[in-house]
Amino acid sequence: MRRYPERVKTEIRYAIATQVPAELLVLFTVDQSLGAGSATPAVFPLTEAQTLHTSVGEILTSGEFKSAANETLLIHAPAGLACKRLLLVGVGKAAAEGTGKGPSVAALRRAAGTAARFARARGSKDLAIALPQTAVEGTDAEVARAIVEGVLIADFDPDTYKSDRRDLSLSTLTLFASERVDQAAVSAALAEGVILGEAQNFARTLVNEPGNVLTPTVLGDRAAAMCKQHGLKCHVYSTDKLKSLKMGAFLGVTQGTYEPPALIVMEYEPHGGVPAGSPVLGLVGKGITFDTGGISIKPAEGMEKMKYDMAGGAAMIGAMQAIAQLKPNVRVLGIVCAAENMPSGRAYKPGDVLTAMSGKTIEVINTDAEGRLVLADGLHYAKTLGATHLIDAATLTGAVAIALGLHNAGAFSNDDATWDHFAGVLDRAGEPFWRLPLGDEYREQIRSHIADLMNTGGRYGGAITAAMFLKEFAGDTPWIHLDIAGLAWIDDARPWIAKGPSGVGVRSITEWVRSYSA
Ligand code: BES
Ligand code: MN
Ligand code: ZN
Repeated sequence: MRRYPERVKTEIRYAIATQVPAELLVLFTVDQSLGAGSATPAVFPLTEAQTLHTSVGEILTSGEFKSAANETLLIHAPAGLACKRLLLVGVGKAAAEGTGKGPSVAALRRAAGTAARFARARGSKDLAIALPQTAVEGTDAEVARAIVEGVLIADFDPDTYKSDRRDLSLSTLTLFASERVDQAAVSAALAEGVILGEAQNFARTLVNEPGNVLTPTVLGDRAAAMCKQHGLKCHVYSTDKLKSLKMGAFLGVTQGTYEPPALIVMEYEPHGGVPAGSPVLGLVGKGITFDTGGISIKPAEGMEKMKYDMAGGAAMIGAMQAIAQLKPNVRVLGIVCAAENMPSGRAYKPGDVLTAMSGKTIEVINTDAEGRLVLADGLHYAKTLGATHLIDAATLTGAVAIALGLHNAGAFSNDDATWDHFAGVLDRAGEPFWRLPLGDEYREQIRSHIADLMNTGGRYGGAITAAMFLKEFAGDTPWIHLDIAGLAWIDDARPWIAKGPSGVGVRSITEWVRSYSA
């Protein structure tokens, strides 16, 4: 039933844009009008003179195409260009009002995705894109990488279970650049873009799978297969191991289901090793393959979406795939705590007290606050395996989407230096994370009268109190927590990405890891 497309073949060629004989050539355009001004859009990488000598010039001076972000215009047999069809894709304003900043690399990643989805929808299999150069902020290499990522991300649809599925996937992507670019840097960037885009799509395939297919055991199998293919060590443990490690919090969550849990441990070791005392990065993902809420059961409406409650775990598995290929010079442990949260005669209940691996006791107030319980043991376990720095990703709270809406994921940290590493890679990764507070004043909300902690913190600041809970288990270890509940699933298709799993987190986590490469 599952049919995944062949990987897109990508290559870079050096040619002048007007002379590219492609079936479909994409050129990006930038709106040069300031405020109410009406200058015509610039078409990159064409010069103004080149633009005027092609059919593009006439269309642009007509004012019909404004070059708004992701606006498209298809021209057949354009005069003055060697391509058969030309697709113009807007990237937005040359200088956003007040900021003086031009379109970002992220805007270009989306525009490239828009081009790819435009082509797919019309049955085009071969896409040629001219590197815009100077149109956006960022180097040629950064732009090339973003274009490749944008195209690969766009080339994904979640309809793998449709019997009459049409395979729209692209066969080739050819990037055309001037031979004056730093060719070594641009071709390395192209390779990186492929690695990141494929890793993100791998995470999305996992998230897309329904709960009856992707059980914790199957998630473990998929992770192990990826590790085998990419030369990572991998162990997948289950109930016995959880018991011997005394993972009482994780065990509490999983006790209501017939599906065995999976504790997935992936290891990346740089070739030739690293000196003693080097950092060891621990990546910990929430892998709830289906979250019914348990005894504190969720309402029926929308419950089907809770198959995506393993998106944090999928992000870690995707990131480990990218890390295996990019080979940073730092040790990395990837841990996914996979379980199903079900109500049953043997399920854990509100009022139960669980003893976590760290020894801390937890009063269960709501069995639907299960993610923090499995992560409590995952974070502690990562420390016992030697992690010196931790990052976790989880679809942890609905509250994070209430706080930040659907355009930023929540991020938290107990250590400013570690946060700086993360903040420093966000531009390059192009994913929106917004830091939220984690002060001790919030600790009171999760204080229990009979145990060390409660697993919920009441009505206010739900994303923060969930993070405060995790902070107890990160302890003194520098740690970042990513709450991706609002972004891991896209409810409405956009011009550059399908409705469904987003794969958010893969690129930022991978880049964070690379920032520690010695
Ligand atoms: N998996 C959910 C959070 C979630 C909600 C993810 C919506 C994606 C979309 C999590 O396990 C959960 O149920 N959280 C509760 C916590 C509450 C009981 C304190 C929530 O957000 O309502
Ligand atoms: Mn839940
Ligand atoms: Zn959950």
